[in-house]
Amino acid sequence: MPDLIAEAQAVEERFLRQIFVRDQMAEWSKHPLVMARADGVSYWDVNGKHYLDALSGIYVASVGHNNRRVIDAIREQYDRLSFSPPMHGTNPVAVQLANLLAELAPGDLSTVKFQCGGAEVTEAAIKLARQYHKLTGAPGKFKIIGRYQSWHGSTLGALSASGLKSRKTVNEPMASGFLHVFPPTCYRCPFGQSYPSCGLTCASIIEKVIDFEDPDTVAAIIVEPIGHTGGVIDPPEEYLPMLREICDRHNILLIFDEIITGFGRTGHLFAAETFGVVPDVLCVAKGMSGGYAPISAMICRRPIADAFWGPISENPGFVEGHTFEGNPISCAAGIAVIREILERDLCGNARAQGARLRAGFERLSEKHGVIGDLRGKGLFQAIEFVRDRATKEPMPEAFGVRVGRRALEHGLLCRFDPNWIAFGPPLVVTGAQIDEMVAILDRCLGEALAEAGS
Ligand SMILES: Cc1ncc(COP(=O)(O)O)c(C=O)c1O
Repeated sequence: MPDLIAEAQAVEERFLRQIFVRDQMAEWSKHPLVMARADGVSYWDVNGKHYLDALSGIYVASVGHNNRRVIDAIREQYDRLSFSPPMHGTNPVAVQLANLLAELAPGDLSTVKFQCGGAEVTEAAIKLARQYHKLTGAPGKFKIIGRYQSWHGSTLGALSASGLKSRKTVNEPMASGFLHVFPPTCYRCPFGQSYPSCGLTCASIIEKVIDFEDPDTVAAIIVEPIGHTGGVIDPPEEYLPMLREICDRHNILLIFDEIITGFGRTGHLFAAETFGVVPDVLCVAKGMSGGYAPISAMICRRPIADAFWGPISENPGFVEGHTFEGNPISCAAGIAVIREILERDLCGNARAQGARLRAGFERLSEKHGVIGDLRGKGLFQAIEFVRDRATKEPMPEAFGVRVGRRALEHGLLCRFDPNWIAFGPPLVVTGAQIDEMVAILDRCLGEALAEAGS
């Protein structure tokens, strides 16, 4: 066994050859980012360089890094129980967390399946929908409607529901039984219309799709209340209520993927509350344990859960599971993080600092002519870049990536894509830290524009 590799050596190419990261390897290894420490809204890499975390890692570190209350709760749990036999039952911390979620989730969302990551629960939600219809006399309902530009995770089922060609094409063929509709991208309406005179064709056309497919074959619609990967797709307020009505008319389950939007990010505990719509199934992960341990949860409404409680002769229960589901350490982290969010009113802080962040982005928009659109809610905000505001022609040469890379150089971590960038800082962020993040972005934009000769 090789000696342990020192932090400073972890960036050497000979050691990096042994690990796959999410980025393109050859490109990433030119300037490898290897984080060593974190505290509050700060990261330090192995070279001691400081970064302001405007992304919560990746929308995860909801209560900030190095939160002592959460760390203490995990330590105490290690002394009691670190693993319980999942094939035979569960443990008290999982039951406590399930009951806490049932209490906090809107409407009659009440029964919880725990897993470790986001893809595991979006995929569990898809399986739940199919099995639910089989158990309730509609076995022909199996199709899942997802949206283009969406992201529900990397496992094959979650990937099949997703609509991102850059992550799908290399893995095709996808699983069968999935189809896709256009998302509510008002800034670039796929139907060439304008809100509100459009009457929300993006929502009403879904009912037409269902009709053409045959409603008796459609099991569920899965959406992120605010889509992320398409550049933070924040729907008009009528959109999700319309989806709710369509689903109700056709006995189709509405699944909300709140893996990013859950646990305070949009200024309420769940985006379902922000939009006033109760889905049939709600999926959460990321911010739920703040990154202190992997955990995700799928929460379904009471009548759906009841369908899984029949006698064993007719009902096998919910046929879904993974070894680490309901892990006591992860559940202890989840309970401690949720208490932090509630007791420190971090949803309120997300609303207040989200408004400050949006105001900062608006100031940048007045200053830099390449900002075409601002989108988002609470501490989930994005900027789309355009060369020309009138024509909405995108900025060339992956401008957003250039801004994002410059931000890293200047010690700011944000999400970047060729045409947009997004901020999603920890919910504990202060006004001064928001101002500093916006100031760094301002500088990066100025430099990237100067480089582009604009
Ligand atoms: C909206 C959404 N759903 C699902 C997932 C998948 O979560 P995980 O990467 O934990 O499997 C992600 C991950 O980024 C996500 O953003």
